[in-house]
Amino acid sequence: MATAQAAIFNEMGQHQWYVHLSRDDGADLGAIKTAINDLISQCNEKNINLVLGFGPTLLADLGADMPNDFQSFETIVSTDGSGTEAKGTQEELLLWLNSPQKDDVWKAQYDARTALAGHMSVARETPTFIYGESLDMTGFIDGTGNPDPKDEPTVALVADGDPGAGGSFILAQRWVHDLDGWNEMSVEDQEKVFGRTKADSTKLETQEEYSHLAHVELREGQAADESTPKRNEIARRSTPYAFHDGTVGLYFMAFCREQAPFRERLDAMYGVNGEPRDRLTDFSNPASGSFYFAPSEEELGKILK
Ligand code: HEM
Repeated sequence: MATAQAAIFNEMGQHQWYVHLSRDDGADLGAIKTAINDLISQCNEKNINLVLGFGPTLLADLGADMPNDFQSFETIVSTDGSGTEAKGTQEELLLWLNSPQKDDVWKAQYDARTALAGHMSVARETPTFIYGESLDMTGFIDGTGNPDPKDEPTVALVADGDPGAGGSFILAQRWVHDLDGWNEMSVEDQEKVFGRTKADSTKLETQEEYSHLAHVELREGQAADESTPKRNEIARRSTPYAFHDGTVGLYFMAFCREQAPFRERLDAMYGVNGEPRDRLTDFSNPASGSFYFAPSEEELGKILK
């Protein structure tokens, strides 16, 4: 049985760092492999959780066992004329580090990007943090509907025998909140947007057709309808971020055994499926979005040799 990258399921540290990179012209795969192997060693030494995600082009060039239906992230534009969109900014490599020690996290990602210089350039990066008891900056608890931890490997990992077994598809997006606009709304209206209460994340019995849950809580029947079982679940690990220019939001990070359930949810949120847009997109939209694949430990050993 293939071994998943442990940091997908480990308890997250308070401090996170996301670094997205793509290859420069003339990049040397050997130098890239050495830099990544050194990063792995440093993270092991310092007890830093590290998840390595590869975009479709780099994964193929490393000669990996390619998972099925691995696509690049293309910008999703809502069809209701509002102009809202989920921006696609696909890159080739994602380093996700987290630890209770921000200094260790900073140093490890700094050393890695320095070693990769000349072969890969940093396209974007976001340091994030855990806010309270897993809060989003809207003040709502984020993560309630995640699968039970014992079921997460089944939800998140490609099954044994399938291409890319033990690996996991990743969706990484930096959502930008209009927090002032959000805070002008009554708590009751805010709760209708998510479909859960603010105080303790209790699911509302009546879901508005625009609620977040009505778009993302996929069921065998209608979305968010408790009478049918959940389907195509994902394991979320999102955390908030705050930039010095006042930009704030949620760094959405999730894992799944297939990529299609991410696309289905995003299409629903942006009304691409003909349904009303998720009202959340009136208050938050992603400035970046990429799909990656986190290969199993065995596969990493092969492609980084
Ligand atoms: C600004 C961006 C987002 C925010 C602030 C946000 C926040 C939330 C909150 C507060 C909940 C309810 C509590 C919980 O179960 O965690 C929730 C549920 C959920 N969200 Fe989001 N979310 C965002 C984007 C997304 C995206 C992009 C996806 C998938 C593509 C997604 C998938 C889910 C799922 C699967 C659930 C749980 C549904 C269930 O109970 O089965 N969310 N989200």
